[in-house]
Amino acid sequence: MKITLKDGSKLTLKRIRGKDYEEVMTFLDKFSRGKGAVWTNQYPGQPKKDKEKAIQKYESDNDLFLGIWNDKEIIANGSITLSGLNHPWSVPQAVFGLSVLEKYTGQGLGTILLKELEKWAIKKKVHRIRATVRHNNKRGLGLYLKFGYQIEGIAKETGFFDNQWQHEYYIAKIINQ
Ligand SMILES: CC(C)(COP(=O)(O)OP(=O)(O)OC[C@H]1O[C@@H](n2cnc3c(N)ncnc32)[C@H](O)[C@@H]1OP(=O)(O)O)[C@@H](O)C(=O)NCCC(=O)NCCS
Repeated sequence: MKITLKDGSKLTLKRIRGKDYEEVMTFLDKFSRGKGAVWTNQYPGQPKKDKEKAIQKYESDNDLFLGIWNDKEIIANGSITLSGLNHPWSVPQAVFGLSVLEKYTGQGLGTILLKELEKWAIKKKVHRIRATVRHNNKRGLGLYLKFGYQIEGIAKETGFFDNQWQHEYYIAKIINQ
């Protein structure tokens, strides 16, 4: 999928595959050193993901990793993983995450990624889609509430930065009745 930003720059959204492993690691390293990382589990200097396991996930039918590329590198990423499959009473669920490099935030890319992840989840007959978001993450929370997610609960004191405890909201939405 082609995306054109307001400033005219052209981006491409596509599924991340095993061959993209090194590019994804470069993106994660860059993202982890940026301002937005505090809202995720990424951190500066983190080790690279295990290559074999990562490639397995990028190629798996139970996962979807999406990347948005500019003319030279990945600048945003969205991922979603299924659970509760082939179980007598659990329902198919999915958990997702989003990361956009700071320079590219606030231009609709999170919205595009979330829409694509939800489309895939609906195709996979997912009943419940969920994520966690830190309580001070105004952008993240704003996006999810706009998309109809509800706060189901709060996990207290899961992190500490900016001299204060950070709590996490559990947010979710029922997408297939
Ligand atoms: C959260 C994140 C994925 C959102 O993506 P984005 O491309 O910046 O968001 P969009 O431009 O699509 O904006 C979508 C909505 O988010 C909310 N939003 C965006 N910027 C905002 C801001 N500065 N303050 C409050 N809400 C904001 C708004 O509801 C906005 O809708 P609107 O443009 O109609 O007002 C992205 O900013 C990011 O990667 N942040 C760092 C990592 C992170 O927080 N990941 C999510 C962890 S749960």
